[in-house]
Amino acid sequence: MGGASLFNEVRTMSKSNVDQPARVLSRAIETLAARGRHDRPDEWLRCLCQDVLAGFGRRLAQPWDEARHEALHALSALYGKLVGDHPWTDILGSVYMEFGSRGQHRWLGQYFTPQTVATCMAEMQLTGLEDRLSENELIRVLEPTSGSGVMLLAMCECLQRRHGVAALRRFAFTAIDLDRLCAEMTATQLLANAAFHGEPGELHVYHGNALTHATLEIVVSFARSPAFIDRLDDPTIPPDPRPTCPTPSPAMAFAVAVGEQMSLF
Ligand SMILES: C[S@@+](CC[C@H](N)C(=O)[O-])C[C@H]1O[C@@H](n2cnc3c(N)ncnc32)[C@H](O)[C@@H]1O
Repeated sequence: MGGASLFNEVRTMSKSNVDQPARVLSRAIETLAARGRHDRPDEWLRCLCQDVLAGFGRRLAQPWDEARHEALHALSALYGKLVGDHPWTDILGSVYMEFGSRGQHRWLGQYFTPQTVATCMAEMQLTGLEDRLSENELIRVLEPTSGSGVMLLAMCECLQRRHGVAALRRFAFTAIDLDRLCAEMTATQLLANAAFHGEPGELHVYHGNALTHATLEIVVSFARSPAFIDRLDDPTIPPDPRPTCPTPSPAMAFAVAVGEQMSLF
């Protein structure tokens, strides 16, 4: 299927499903899967994550062929639009579970926390944060079994809503998952939302076993420069650094690319 035709279809879908970003994306993926001969929907979900991460500077294991490249261009654009319209929403986790809940898609076996519950937990965990925010140091958060990353997405949403986008820069998020697709969904969702809605101080996502740390593979890793962290309270830093276009900031893309060679453990 041509990318332009997919894009036209999904544009119509997104107009009629403004409140259901996951449904819009899963229909686009199913359309692609139905028209191809070999690919299952989860394969397209995997490719979407890798394509978005490649947009942030992560190397693809091998380049897409022309047809897939064209389809992924449209799918990634759709995903970007949905993230822009639905800040910090667990779109990919819902898509994953939608595929997994159908009889014929038994290869997706995980269930993630509903976003409303994750938000409730974030609200509780962030209670009394004011004192920590007044200290000029990073607050580290570890999500050792991240799934789609819904817990961290909910925490970012809650932080931004309660303390403004600058509060995100106070935080260093680390996520790990044993399942590669889950680790890539976490990285994709957090990076895409950071690019649109506000970047955290640090973000590290690993594929591997959180219990042993034996072979942790970096999916993405970026950290702001210490000079920037030191200037967190500088009034000259704009309160809301949201980019107006869907592309990540050059600094962020660079950091992600460099981060592939970093190791924290
Ligand atoms: C039930 S899901 C929950 C995900 C997420 N925390 C949430 O609340 O939605 C559990 C996740 O833990 C991951 N997992 C299980 N054992 C793990 C381990 N030893 N190290 C890292 N991830 C693990 C699974 O791959 C799965 O994505």
